[in-house]
Amino acid sequence: MNTDALNHTARRMVTRRLSRRTALTASAAGLGATMLGRAGRTPVALAQAATPAATRDNLPPEVPAWMQTPGAPSSPYGERAAAEDSIVRLAPNPVISFSPLAELPGTLTPNALFYEIHFGGIPAIDPSAHRLLVHGLVERPTLFTVDDIKRFPAVSVIHFLECAGNSFSEWTEASMSPTVQLSHGWTSSAEWTGVPLATILRDVGIQPGGGWLLAEGADAAGLNRSIPTAKAMADGLLVYAANGEALRPSQGYPLRLLLPGFEGNMNIKWLRRLKVGHEPWHTRWDTPYYGDLLPDGTAREFTFVMEAKSVITSPSGGHHLAGPGFQEITGLAWSGRGRISQVDVSTDGGQSWSPATLQEPVLPMAWTRFRLPWSWDGQATQLQSRAIDETGYVQPTIAQLVEARGVNSFYHNNAIKTWAIAADGEVRNVYA
Ligand code: CO
Repeated sequence: MNTDALNHTARRMVTRRLSRRTALTASAAGLGATMLGRAGRTPVALAQAATPAATRDNLPPEVPAWMQTPGAPSSPYGERAAAEDSIVRLAPNPVISFSPLAELPGTLTPNALFYEIHFGGIPAIDPSAHRLLVHGLVERPTLFTVDDIKRFPAVSVIHFLECAGNSFSEWTEASMSPTVQLSHGWTSSAEWTGVPLATILRDVGIQPGGGWLLAEGADAAGLNRSIPTAKAMADGLLVYAANGEALRPSQGYPLRLLLPGFEGNMNIKWLRRLKVGHEPWHTRWDTPYYGDLLPDGTAREFTFVMEAKSVITSPSGGHHLAGPGFQEITGLAWSGRGRISQVDVSTDGGQSWSPATLQEPVLPMAWTRFRLPWSWDGQATQLQSRAIDETGYVQPTIAQLVEARGVNSFYHNNAIKTWAIAADGEVRNVYA
């Protein structure tokens, strides 16, 4: 048998084996043969048929170039594969960047892809010169070094962050963003390591009536917010690490506040001061900036909690379905009030709903990934997801949200998102 014939046989074997495995996975998911494309071929089989000659040279029994010589040496700090370099944050201006939600496969955001919002740039802080002052209505006003903070018993917890303004573009049809990165990319998720605020506050001793904290960042904006002491005592953290390494400068290095479930800006980065007081301070960030303007001219203020929300990240705006057949629908759900208890997915524009599978572990105030196997019949349709949290709160439609709050409010848009699929497979954002 010559080499060409050998190659041909090996290719056929690989194709057959992969096809069978894909079909088995399909029936295990309860989908049977209907999920296979019109021609009854799996996506894997289609990919095999389309394999260019240069790639075939790398398939068994050939020995690919990267097996013929030793690879690169190890390095002190890792790099991702060059072919993945196109997955980046989008930063339309120097103040903000959006995380690429459609390209994140799991429930954590790599630190390098975390969304950012900063009003005075990213400060270059010398950690040995950084201090945290805790003062006001306390028994023992204290100036902590970063090393002092790190001496306290620590915990690691997984929580999402979300800017209060995430999905601001989705309030009106005219302002909608084309992709999930721009419409929902002001949320990210990490495993955070730090010291419970309760430990620090007990260490300094809060005086009676110290019901509020003023938290201040060490950036050029001096962003500060009034925070209920009860929240800080319940689950607040002083954080110095994310996803297994020190916070990045843009994440608040060397020390930040984490208030699980509260809007992003309150999780003060570059934390330098906590002042205990009787009442909120009504700083410019508390009232005009992060207030929610209602149609009658009044504003909601101190709207801290990010309510339950979900979004389908794949397929989503800007994607193009290759053709009819199997398509996993997947996305993220989260709630600032606890665990996600259910995510329903509609593949017919909200006429009917199916419960998606929630990927374990389902943690409180953390991204929860949902998945639903689906076979697209090639007809134009609309996809939606609807989150329900453990309090029974149901994610609203945009019509319900606008009915309650009008469209003046930049903040707290947690409405159901609709992605329309055209008959040609084009996926786009629609107002529905
Ligand atoms: Co708010």
